Amino acid sequence: AFAAESPGKCRPPQRGFDPLNPKVPGGSTDPEHTASLDLNTSVQMLSLTTLRFPLVSLRASRNSPLFVDFFKKKKVSHRWVFDFLPPQGVEKPFKEVIDVSWGDPHRGGMKPLTFVRQVLAACVYPQLMNDNKLPVDVRQRAQKLLDGCAGRSVGSYSATQGIPEIVQRVSEFISRRDGGVPSNPENIFLCCGSQILNVLVNAEAAFTTGVLAPAPCYRTTTLSIEGLGGVVIPYYLSEEQGWELQVEELQQALESAGGACNPIALYVINPGNPTGHVQSRKSMQEVIRFASEKRLFLLADEVYQGCIYGEKEFVSYKRVLAEMGPPLSDTVELASFHSASKGFMGECGLRGGYVELVNLDPAVKKYIYTLFTADSSAPLLGQIALDLMTNPPLPGDPSYFQFDQETQHIKSTVDKNVKKAFEVVNSLQGFSCPAVEGGAFAFPRIHLPAKAIQKAKEVGMQPDTFYCLKLLEEAGVLVSPGSDFGQKEGTFHFRFCILILHDVLEELLRRLTLFHTQFMKDFS
Ligand SMILES: Cc1ncc(COP(=O)(O)O)c(C=O)c1O
Repeated sequence: AFAAESPGKCRPPQRGFDPLNPKVPGGSTDPEHTASLDLNTSVQMLSLTTLRFPLVSLRASRNSPLFVDFFKKKKVSHRWVFDFLPPQGVEKPFKEVIDVSWGDPHRGGMKPLTFVRQVLAACVYPQLMNDNKLPVDVRQRAQKLLDGCAGRSVGSYSATQGIPEIVQRVSEFISRRDGGVPSNPENIFLCCGSQILNVLVNAEAAFTTGVLAPAPCYRTTTLSIEGLGGVVIPYYLSEEQGWELQVEELQQALESAGGACNPIALYVINPGNPTGHVQSRKSMQEVIRFASEKRLFLLADEVYQGCIYGEKEFVSYKRVLAEMGPPLSDTVELASFHSASKGFMGECGLRGGYVELVNLDPAVKKYIYTLFTADSSAPLLGQIALDLMTNPPLPGDPSYFQFDQETQHIKSTVDKNVKKAFEVVNSLQGFSCPAVEGGAFAFPRIHLPAKAIQKAKEVGMQPDTFYCLKLLEEAGVLVSPGSDFGQKEGTFHFRFCILILHDVLEELLRRLTLFHTQFMKDFS
C-alpha cells in the first residue's frame, strides 16, 4: 500500500553501498554477510540501504560474531547456563557454559526481591490485592501505584515524563540521596534507555557532533552516538591509577579531535563499566571545571550507584556540582542517569530508568519533552520498578524484614565475589586486576605471550578475542574481550560479571585457572 501511495519515496538500493559497513566502500568485510545479503536484487520497499544504523557494530555490542558462530555451530541456545551439546566426537570437560558476558544479575542466578515481585504481581493482577497472603504494605503500595495509572491499569500509557506520582517520589529520592540538594520533578523524565543522546547529535550540522567518552567504555552508548551520526572522542582512563579519570586525558582527547568535529558533550560512567572504579570527589570536581571551561554538556551515567564494595562512597555529579556553588552550580549543564536494571534489584528486563536534567535552557527542555512524546511513554512496569527501587520498604513496614534480609544476602554475596575474584585472578601468571570498587564487572588485564599474539594475528583476531574464544571453547566460560570496549594499544583485557551466585563464580574461577595454566604452557 505504501509503495502504491508514494512511489516517489521508493529508492532502488545503491550498488556497492554496504550498510553493514558503511565506511568501507563497496562491501562488507564479513564474507558471511556479503554472501547472504544481495542488496542489488531487493524488491521490497524497506531494504538495508534505507536503514541508518551500522549493523556490524550493533551486532558486536551483544556478542562478538565469533561467539554467535560458536553457539550456532554447537546448536545451543544463549542463556546464562545452558546445556552444552558438544560437536559429535569431541569430549568437553564441562556440561554447561557459564555466561558472564552481560551485566544481568538475574541471568547470573540472583533472585528477584520478593517485595518488588509481589507489588508488581498485584499491579498486573489486581485481584491479588484481595489475597491477605500478601503483606499489607505490598497491597497498599500496589493500590497507590495503580491509582496513579490511567484507567488504574498497567496496560495504559502514562504522561510523557512518567506517572506524576512516581516522578515526584524519584525526585524526593534524589534529594535524600544528595543530602538535601533540591530536585525539581519537572527536570525528571522516566525512560527506558538513553533517548537523551538523540538530542545531542545533529546529523545535518556542518560539523559532526563529537562526544567525549571513556576508553574503555560501555559499548551501547558509543554505538548509539555513532548510530545517530555523531563521533566518539575517546579519552583514556588511567589503569595504573585504578582507572581514575584524569583531566589531562580529557584535554588531550579534545586536542586530538583537532577541529574535525564539534565536541559538545562529555560522557562519564561512575561507578565504571567495564572498569569497576569509583570516581573520587576531586576527580569529579576537575571534570566539572573542565566541562564548564570547554562548554560541554556533562552526561553522568550513574546506573551502578547502588553497587559499591570498597571504602569509597558514591557521590552523584549533581551533588558535587551543587556543592561547588555558583557560578558552576548554576551554569554547568548536566544529565544524570539511573536505572532499575542495576543495583541489587537487577530488574533489567523491566526497562525502567530515569534522567534528571540540570541547568538546561528551557527551550531545549521543551524540545526534549517533545522528543519523549514520540515514544508514547516508558513501560509502566519499569516505572513501577523504579518507584520500588527509589522507595523501598522502611523499618517497621511488614515487608521490611524480608526485604532487608534479601538485599543483605545479595550484598554479602557480591562482596565475597569481589574478594575471591581479586585473589584468584591476581594469583594467575600474567594477570593483573585492580580491586573492584563498584559496578557489576571485573576487568582484568592479561599479559599475553608473544606466541599467542602471533597466533591471533594469523587467524585474524584481536589477541584478547582469541583468548576469550579459547576460554569459551575449552573451558565453557563466556566473557567479553577488552577490545569490545576500547583499550590502550598493546594492552589486553576481558570483562566478566560479578553480580552472580558465589558458587557459579567459584566454578568460573576454577575453570579459568585450569584453562589459563594450560594456555600459558601452550603459548610460551
Ligand atoms: C554504564 C551503563 N549505563 C547504562 C546501562 C543501561 O542499562 P538499562 O538500559 O538496562 O537501564 C548499562 C547497562 O549495562 C550500563 O552498564
